[in-house]
Amino acid sequence: MTVSLLIKNAAQVVTSKGASAKPLVGEELGQLEVIEDGAVAVSGDQITAVGPTADLLKLIKTDRQTKVIDATGKVVLPGLIDPHTHVVFGGSREHELALKLQGVPYLEILARGGGILSSVEATRAASEDQLVERGLKYCRQMLAQGTTTAEAKSGYGLSTEAELKTLRAVKRVDAAQPVDLVPTFLGAHAVPKEYKGKPDRYLDLVIDEMLPQVVEQKLARYCDVFCEEGVFSIEQSRRLLTAARAAGLELKLHADEIVPLGGAELAAELGAVSADHLLVVSDLGIEKMAAAGVIAVLLPGTTFYLREEHYAPARKMIEAGVPVALASDFNPGSSPNNNLQLVINIACLYLRLTPAEVINALTINAAHALGRAAAIGSIEAKKAADLVIFDAPNYDYLAYRYGTNLVDTVIKNGAVVVEGGSVV
Ligand code: NIG
Ligand code: FE
Repeated sequence: MTVSLLIKNAAQVVTSKGASAKPLVGEELGQLEVIEDGAVAVSGDQITAVGPTADLLKLIKTDRQTKVIDATGKVVLPGLIDPHTHVVFGGSREHELALKLQGVPYLEILARGGGILSSVEATRAASEDQLVERGLKYCRQMLAQGTTTAEAKSGYGLSTEAELKTLRAVKRVDAAQPVDLVPTFLGAHAVPKEYKGKPDRYLDLVIDEMLPQVVEQKLARYCDVFCEEGVFSIEQSRRLLTAARAAGLELKLHADEIVPLGGAELAAELGAVSADHLLVVSDLGIEKMAAAGVIAVLLPGTTFYLREEHYAPARKMIEAGVPVALASDFNPGSSPNNNLQLVINIACLYLRLTPAEVINALTINAAHALGRAAAIGSIEAKKAADLVIFDAPNYDYLAYRYGTNLVDTVIKNGAVVVEGGSVV
């Protein structure tokens, strides 16, 4: 077989293989196949073979067209997957840092009309083209940092027009650059100022007007809600998500982040694909998520940036059999970071995950959180050739170094899109 691209002599090829049918749970999360002196062969947009370099060289043929990458001293991983981002928004919120440092709580800033609502104003004021331009810039950054697929939520429009504009922008950004974006409708991200004090009236608008158009125009795969005290209650979240499911969307929740309302229990009741954040999840919520197979998408970068008291009880969830994935939560307020390499560090240091667990959580389990595990998330024959080569002698090194982009090469669908650390 003649291959179009060959990576050889890698210090390690970390495959995350063997869990395409269902996410890794419990001890499985820490099991990682590592091939020393490894190689990966690609034909077109697919991986065709992976194994020790010596074996692979016997198996495959190269010709003059084959791109050969010598990965001596480097580590190859599946392209990183970021299953929770708010990557398309207008404006920025650096002015809130001072408030934060004065001790004004996150929900208080929101209640004063700042926070999410300040990004809503900026997003409404931006044209669709401007949103696309910004989204492209952020995706370029993500790609250069090793992310090859990401979720992208709306939720800074909060009017029919601005939500649709955001999701159209997501679609255009997806089409215009290599990072694949999976769209999520988050019309219930906050109650906009014109509906202040009338969350149920606003939900009527989300359900009766926005949702049908989002579905009809095929602008989202998932529906999400910020289920939180002072934002949307359990009952309101249930009402929205039930309608979204009936309209054909799969479900995600921002759950049990600040106040333990029971978002995890609701996610299990509704059979949501994931419940995200979960800093204050209850023991019952953990048990129910495990039983229902709801994926916990943990966002430790947000906990770090909000300086919250404690992190999500990741070890407890893993022990209870909840499938765990990780994401950046990239957004203009609580997590202005789109670098998953920093999430690797924070997840190891503060969620107490091992480097192997973190890698599975950012590859195959993250793929499950986006319903894409049959196609991406591991280095296996027939999967999409989404690969990252890190300038690191082994995968532990990724958790050890922090604050430096260690990406050397990124391959998306078989094409080299980042080379020598720069987007080509
Ligand atoms: O996931 N928690 C709610 N939504 C976002 C934050 C949005 C913002 O602050 O702009 C989150 O953290
Ligand atoms: Fe979020």
